[in-house]
Amino acid sequence: MDTTLDILKVIHVVNAILMAWPFYALVTVNQRGSLGPPLGDRADTYMENIIKNRALPCFVLQGTALASGLLLVFLRGMGLNALVANPILGLKSLLLLIIAALLTYVHTTLQPQIDALFARAGGQLVPQELGQQITKLRLRRKRMASVCLFVVLTAAMLGVQTWAPFPYWLTIVLVIGIAALARRAYSGVRRWM
Ligand code: HEM
Repeated sequence: MDTTLDILKVIHVVNAILMAWPFYALVTVNQRGSLGPPLGDRADTYMENIIKNRALPCFVLQGTALASGLLLVFLRGMGLNALVANPILGLKSLLLLIIAALLTYVHTTLQPQIDALFARAGGQLVPQELGQQITKLRLRRKRMASVCLFVVLTAAMLGVQTWAPFPYWLTIVLVIGIAALARRAYSGVRRWM
């Protein structure tokens, strides 16, 4: 049983590492922003293809986080009530729901709108009026990616203290640090990060 638990812990943590994609997505979109106009060239096709093709793997990672997390709870002899009895587990489950909702919104609503606007340009450079609409939607998607990054890192930070909670002040300081990191990743191209 101990070995199964150990393997599951590794799966859960490796899965959490792979969930850092929003950070790299922000690096990518910031680089695209620094290139400037025109919109609709191969750089946009390349970036949009990468972003939209990450949606399915992201759903799989979220499902794996939930499944491996729940198994970790069950293998320790607890039931679903642990999600209520242990506030950290409850909070982590809520955070997972939040990023699942964000991803669903981006995948089903935002991304199709962006794709439709590019399609209206017919594979040519995008006219100014369409470009403004695309930029607005991309900005919303970028904001959501930074919220997602904040949530994933917060869930990881909470995970470390699942069975031995840190003092409140330390958790608050760490949340502030994570928020600063997510903001920095959002705000533009960085040389050192
Ligand atoms: C965004 C989603 C999640 C991320 C990024 C995440 C990340 C992590 C990390 C980094 C750890 C620390 C592992 C260690 O120090 O050994 C951890 C532990 C843990 N997580 Fe998650 N987690 C997520 C969601 C969940 C969910 C939804 C559950 C269950 C409902 C869960 C249950 C657990 C448990 C039980 C542990 C303690 C492992 C042990 O038994 O030692 N996690 N998590």
